[in-house]
Parts: sequence; structure tokens; C-alpha cells
Amino acid sequence: AHLHKEAQKAGLMYFGAATDTPGQRERAGKEEAYPRYDRILADNKMFGQTTPTNGQKWLFTEPEQGLFNYTEGDITTDLAREQGKILRCHALVWHSQLAPWVEEATWTAENLTAAITSHVEHVAGHWKGQCYAWDVVNEALEEDGSWRESVFYKVLGDEYIKLAFRLAAEIDPDAKLYYNDYNIERPGPKVDGVIRLVKMLQDEGIRIDGVGMQAHFTASEAPTLDEQIAAIESYAETGVEVALTELDVRIPVPYTDEDLAQQKEDYTNAVGACVQVPACIGVTLWDFYDPFSWVPDFFPGEGAALLWFDDFKKHPAYHGVMYALRNG
Ligand code: G3I
Repeated sequence: AHLHKEAQKAGLMYFGAATDTPGQRERAGKEEAYPRYDRILADNKMFGQTTPTNGQKWLFTEPEQGLFNYTEGDITTDLAREQGKILRCHALVWHSQLAPWVEEATWTAENLTAAITSHVEHVAGHWKGQCYAWDVVNEALEEDGSWRESVFYKVLGDEYIKLAFRLAAEIDPDAKLYYNDYNIERPGPKVDGVIRLVKMLQDEGIRIDGVGMQAHFTASEAPTLDEQIAAIESYAETGVEVALTELDVRIPVPYTDEDLAQQKEDYTNAVGACVQVPACIGVTLWDFYDPFSWVPDFFPGEGAALLWFDDFKKHPAYHGVMYALRNG
């Protein structure tokens, strides 16, 4: 049984996995694993969708002002096209993995508006027509639902969000435009902040089509099935669609059988919530193979967050995901 195939039977548009370019994966070593990795990724019954984990970010696409480079991003977007996978594009305006020049400059509102405009015009223009969806703005909110004090916010206030969505709508009219963030998978102040952001755009007549729940979870601290259903439904009430855009569930390493069982439950709930609410259209894993996960680099002592172990055996959680796809 295969994830994407089963997801489609369950009424989802896709089940996918983000992937990094070979150049970026090098930091994990494991070159001997590439052929097997590539075969699993290429299997469209398994993964009908992909997202470049890094290559479309500002740091890679405009490393110096006005100098555009699509090499890294194209590796994954070409692969999506060649393999006939749905492509999610990630991310146009984000405070992290920004090119240093954006953070170092002293901006006037006018100059920063021009810089964002040029960035979105070039990057969204380059991939025009290829992206099912764009994460137009990523992680603009603090945990309490207030605006994050990014370089963009400090100079432009919430106008930068409106600007980015307005531009993306103009440049790539066929792409679904998403707001994407983490810790927005259970009701609370940050979810309220997302809804405020959606309504702010709608009130101004600016198009927003979706909310991406990143869904980076820690086993046993993940939201319950009911919490996730409630969060998805609250977004859906504003008229947008929802996707799980970066799903992973990290556990302590070395892990025990109990950790793996907990992880299985958490994956089952996440995918089950998406299956149960019609507004949730798809699920993306943030890569699928543990050695290529971002987790160990960022959370020492944690890892094994994906569905394939180092030796390519499947996690028990894989069967939890299957169960959720078959039974909701
Ligand atoms: O590009 C350099 C490379 O030149 C250098 O040799 C290497 C040495 O470590 O580092 C490379 O940069 C890495 C970069 O990914 C590109 O591969 C950074 O060290 C690494 O910190 C960076 O991590 C990425 C992270 O975003 C940055 O915040 C992860 O791969 C990526 O999976 C992760 O993805 C984010 C989403 O975009 C947004 N949501 C959260 C999610 C997890 O942080």
C-alpha cells in the first residue's frame, strides 16, 4: 500500500514529501543512500507531491540584491515536473534564511517595498504556472498571536503581508496563495492570529486561498485529534483551504518502543484530522528519510521524526498514517 494512492482514495488531493537538493543533503553524509532514496521519492503512488525544503528561499534565490539564482530551487521543481508531481512552492517572504543584505541594510519603507516587490516579481515570476500553491508569507506571528518583529514588520508593519499577497496574486494568478506557520494546529492565540491575518487580507480584497499548518510536532506534546479538527475547521470558516505542509514528529534518540508507539499515535491523529475535515486538501512530510531531517541539527537529542529509518525500514508510524487514510 502506498501513501499518495491511499490519500487520494480518502478524498485528499495529495500525500507528499518535501526534499532537499543533493548539494544540501551532503551535510548528512549518506551518499550511498541516494539511489534508494530517489527511487522512493520518484514513486508517484507513494508521493504525489513535493516541496523544495530550501532552494526557493530568499538566501538561495537572491543572495545579493538584484542577483537572482534559481539553481537550487530548479533541481526540485524540475523533478516535480518531470515526475508529474504536484508542487508546493516555499517561501516568498520569511524572516529566516534571508539573504544577509536584507537584514544588514538600513531600510526606508520605500526601499524595502521596492526590494520585496522585486524579489516576489522575480521569484514568483520564474516559477509562474508551476506551483499548485505558494507559501507567500511564512511565520509572521509570535506565539501569543502578535506580529513577529521581523525586519519586514519593523519597517512596514503589516503592510508587508498585504504587499506580498497582492504581488503574488498578480504575478502567478493560478497558484493558490497560502499563509504558512508552525504551532497553529490547536486552538489558541496563535490560531486566532492566523484568522486575523486571513480576515485582514480579505477585508482589503486581497486574495488568500490557504493556511498551511506546518505540523512540526514533538511526540506526546502533539495536539489531539479533536484539537486539530477544531483548528482546521476554524480556518475553513473563513473560506480558505488547509494543508499539513511540513509534518514530522520528533522523538528522543536513542528511542524506545514506547517512543515509536507515541509517534505512531501522533502521526495517526494529524493525518486523521486532515482526512476528516473536507477543507484539508493534502499532507506533506518535511522529507521522509530520517538522515535528511532538519530535526537533529536543531534539537540535539531528538530525531527519527520521519517515516523511514536510516536503513530504509518503515517506522510503525507509517502504518498509523495508513490507518488514518483508510479510516479517518
Ligand atoms: O547552505 C549551507 C551550506 O552551504 C553549508 O555547507 C551547510 C553546512 O551546514 O549549511 C547549509 O545551510 C543549511 C540550510 O538548511 C540549507 O541546507 C543550514 O545549515 C541549515 O540550518 C538549514 O536548515 C533549514 C531550516 O529550515 C532553516 O531554518 C532546514 O534544512 C529546513 O528543513 C528548514 O525548514 C523550515 C521551513 O522552511 C519553515 N518551517 C520550519 C522548517 C524547519 O526549520
